[in-house]
Amino acid sequence: MLFAGLMGLAGGCKEPTGPEREISGAKIFAQNCARCHGLDGKGLPEVAGVRDLTDPGFMSTISDERMRRSIRGGRPPTMPSFPHFSEPTLKVLVAYVRTLSQPELQLPPPPGP
Ligand code: HEC
Repeated sequence: MLFAGLMGLAGGCKEPTGPEREISGAKIFAQNCARCHGLDGKGLPEVAGVRDLTDPGFMSTISDERMRRSIRGGRPPTMPSFPHFSEPTLKVLVAYVRTLSQPELQLPPPPGP
């Protein structure tokens, strides 16, 4: 599952077609979270109190379990809840968010042509 998140992060990976589509952490993040947290996870300046998800100091204080709860239930008053996220989606998303503060988890960019 972590792998799937990393695949998404590397970008440029074609999603397989067919019924079993790959879940991409980067895509879920871009579609649901980036409007407040920014694509890079640092947080947009206009969102009051937003957390910097790239800050290893802060992120290390949050367990995966807490992150799941925060995403599922939201963080009132600003962060909305995402109760509809399925278990696999949540897993991939949490793994992806982890990579934002842990550069060693990120894949190197693909080699050029
Ligand atoms: C409408 C803006 C908004 C959106 C959309 C949003 N967040 Fe947040 N997020 C916030 C704010 C503001 C905080 C800080 C709130 C707090 O600490 O109580 C926060 C806090 C967090 C935290 C820290 C929570 C904790 O337990 O301290 C995590 C992790 C997080 N967001 C991840 C996400 C993810 C993943 C998504 C997408 C599924 C997302 N956020 C979508 C605004 C947003």
